[in-house]
Amino acid sequence: MAFWIVVASYLIGSIPAGYLLGRARGVDIRQHGSGNIGATNVWRTLGPVYGAVALLGDAGKGALAVWLGRHFGGHGLELATALAALAGHSWPVFLGFKGGKIIATGLGVFLVLAPLAALFALGLWLVVVALFRYVSLGSMVAALSVPLWMFMLHQPAPYVAFGVLVALIAVYKHRSNIKRLLEGTEPKIG
Ligand code: G3P
Repeated sequence: MAFWIVVASYLIGSIPAGYLLGRARGVDIRQHGSGNIGATNVWRTLGPVYGAVALLGDAGKGALAVWLGRHFGGHGLELATALAALAGHSWPVFLGFKGGKIIATGLGVFLVLAPLAALFALGLWLVVVALFRYVSLGSMVAALSVPLWMFMLHQPAPYVAFGVLVALIAVYKHRSNIKRLLEGTEPKIG
């Protein structure tokens, strides 16, 4: 049973909200902007309403996967279903394993796993984006801050370790953004 819940979480994570929204508008989101299927690029390409819907879709599937794990297997399973959903978003079976950067899906995951840590990270994201106007920079700083918030909030060690793993994956997925940030070619918002 637990195995199939994890598989279901991976498949749920694989549903590419941003890509599907683009398709609904006759656009392949992977051919526009940064080429990412995430909410930022949907916002950039299709506008704020579509961007917000992509954000809700991607965050929602992360939250749903954690809920599934908790409901069917308790705390032992929720980290596995969370990781499966993030893996699905990052390496989706439906898009040739080329997916997103796990920020919105990670937000959904941590809003259920560790709500306070997620809200602190979201606040930090807002501050960094407001100050520097680079979404990717805000995303990486926020992702790296999650395990720190979790540690400071006395979360169990496996949860903090999970936060570290997710942060490392998020930074790895932003390597093209890091290159552009260093070259000074990363687009600013606003
Ligand atoms: O959540 C993804 C964001 O951090 C960067 O998106 O499209 O600018 O690469 P993008």
